[in-house]
Amino acid sequence: MRRIDRETVQKILDTADIVDVVSDFVSLKRRGANYIGLCPFHNERTPSFSVSRSKGICKCFSCGKGGSAVGFLMELEQLSYNEALRYLAKKYGIEIKDHEVSEQERERESERESMLAINEFAMKYFEEILTGTDDGRDIGLAYFRERGINDAMIKRFHLGYSYERRDDLYNTATKAGFSEKFLFDTGLCYRTERGSVNDRFRSRVIYPVFTVSGKVVAFGGRTLRKDKEVAKYVNSPESAIYRKSHELYGLYQAKQAIVRKDKCILVEGYMDVISMHQSGVENVVASSGTSLTEGQIRLIHRFTENVTVIYDSDPAGIKASLRGIDLLLAEGLNVKVMSLPDGDDPDSFAQTHTSQEVEDYLETNEEDFITFKTRILMEGAGADPIARSKAIQSIVRSIATIPDQITQSVYIDNCSRSLSIDEKILRLQIARYSAEHAEQQAREAQRERNRAAAGLPADPAEDHTAVLAPPAKTPPAKPSDERRNSFLAPYERELVAYAVRFGMCYICDLSEGDDGTVRPLNVLDYICQELRMDDISFTDPLMEQTISYCLSASESWPAAYDAESSRLEALRKASISEGVEQIRMTADDLDSISRLERELTDRENAAYETAIDNYTVGYLRRILLSCDNDSVRRVATDMVTSRHSLSKIHTKYAKIATDRDRLQELVPLAVYNLKCALIEAEIAQINGEIKAVYASAPGDREHLRELMERNLELNNLKKQLSVYLGERILSPRRR
Ligand code: UTP
Ligand code: MN
Repeated sequence: MRRIDRETVQKILDTADIVDVVSDFVSLKRRGANYIGLCPFHNERTPSFSVSRSKGICKCFSCGKGGSAVGFLMELEQLSYNEALRYLAKKYGIEIKDHEVSEQERERESERESMLAINEFAMKYFEEILTGTDDGRDIGLAYFRERGINDAMIKRFHLGYSYERRDDLYNTATKAGFSEKFLFDTGLCYRTERGSVNDRFRSRVIYPVFTVSGKVVAFGGRTLRKDKEVAKYVNSPESAIYRKSHELYGLYQAKQAIVRKDKCILVEGYMDVISMHQSGVENVVASSGTSLTEGQIRLIHRFTENVTVIYDSDPAGIKASLRGIDLLLAEGLNVKVMSLPDGDDPDSFAQTHTSQEVEDYLETNEEDFITFKTRILMEGAGADPIARSKAIQSIVRSIATIPDQITQSVYIDNCSRSLSIDEKILRLQIARYSAEHAEQQAREAQRERNRAAAGLPADPAEDHTAVLAPPAKTPPAKPSDERRNSFLAPYERELVAYAVRFGMCYICDLSEGDDGTVRPLNVLDYICQELRMDDISFTDPLMEQTISYCLSASESWPAAYDAESSRLEALRKASISEGVEQIRMTADDLDSISRLERELTDRENAAYETAIDNYTVGYLRRILLSCDNDSVRRVATDMVTSRHSLSKIHTKYAKIATDRDRLQELVPLAVYNLKCALIEAEIAQINGEIKAVYASAPGDREHLRELMERNLELNNLKKQLSVYLGERILSPRRR
């Protein structure tokens, strides 16, 4: 899919009305200034999904999901950024002018499109054979019937059948005008050594593989023969449109259920997915027989954090999949596992139980992965001390991959108890594994960078992979750097949040030169100037990125402000003249006419002020909440919708002072806090160095003196900073 030009994006975002957009999915009721309805992201009885037209955002106060119109659509419909924009463009009848793409890009694009088109054609061809021909009905359809698959599932998964004939697809497709190049590129056909052309799929039932956005990129073909002469499955080869490790079978059909249930069930085979669907459990995907890859796991993570892996009950299978699960843990997912009664796989289980029984079983038989692994491995190890120690190491390794500290801690606790091992020992071991793990990641990141630098091909990206691509990994920090960064992060974030939430709001005047000229500064200007003054840049690359998005958005502010203020000005004038007419027609005497007119003008002026202020406050957040960068959009949404932004100081009888009213104190305070934190981080570092020098080279007086001086200097700086803060409480402008 082509990129949409900036101007059109802007138009789409300006036109989209959040209430209108959400209303297509949620029935909303007005409540005060906002609208409220049942959250579409989780099941609930009392509405906690709130939509604010003026802020252009929606948010569930129970599960926390929401965002701008674009963010909402992406999340709910699982669209890519571009798809969401296109959806809105269509809804509002905005024409999309696709931007110019390079010749090469276009060529690649059109090649991929041709491959997708031919796959689409082949899928319909296989479907038609299954249901519309004698061969298909007698063999293929009969097979699905025998396995208990109903028509609805056959339609839903677009199952098909292929003739036994050598090149029927080849002939049909070329006759229909498709060029043979793409038949070969997609792997639907191949040339034999002797030069003849063969269809890849012959007398097999066909399972098309869809991308998350519903494009057919590959096929799996299962033989119906019981002998071992032929491969059970033939699959499409990898191609410009198909990377096996980046697709999950059934995800396209499962994604909405995954979001709704906030859980993804992982099974092995095509048939497992389909039978589970048929029994009403739709949040199921298959890794198609291979062990999970990181790409697949990220794909899942886009939809939920909770994964349940269903195992075959045979021990070899269990051991094999234990490995893949560590990857899930490392990605930060909550992993549960479940084994089925002896001899069952998900397919047979779903076919021999009622929907209710399946649901019940799933609900009651999940087991936490670490607990499960501990049980399995410890049972296997028996009393053999060496085997036990190996098992424990493997369990600890799993725990070490969990990125969240708190979760990890809970597991350490549990394990220490269930294995009767001192917690300290477990922690020590985990620290060691984590270090190994970090090192390994660093090496991988380096390899990735080398690859990129060497100009090797990036993803043969499907349109959704742009959204899926992991954020560029920053070089791994040294442990001490890491500590410093995570110490600074909240301060940086606090400051950037003010830029996002109130960037265009006036904060103070800056006097320039000696001639007394002053320049009004807005919050964003102010923050950037303060940072520049002390040469501060953010340690968190995401914050750096967010600020630069703010800056680039602010370029269009003067023009936008002019346009909006003249629109509002015209509105104000119109309202006044209309009101004046009304007054003249109804008032009795000149006195009341002039009083009413004065009141009218005051009212309209106030309305104008409020409206322009709302526009100003909302300007940056509107743009950032709908920007094309996933991470920026997410962090901005968070900043705008978090509890923090609702923080108010309630004074019992007076009006409520909001953050908006207190920018003059809050923003300088945030600047001050960050600067203090930076100084403190440096002091801590110097102190560390002093200690180290004392320990290793206590005689190095020169070095020590240097360090102590720097220490003193920093402490002075800190003092000065608080004086600075005292001076910097800005006084609001009098209008
Ligand atoms: P299974 O052998 O469990 O097959 O392989 P299945 O899908 O359950 O098939 P039925 O129930 O016998 O009809 C699990 C998955 O591994 C992949 C397929 O994706 C399959 O769904 N696989 C298996 C292959 O790709 N090639 C093979 O030869 C075997
Ligand atoms: Mn099976």
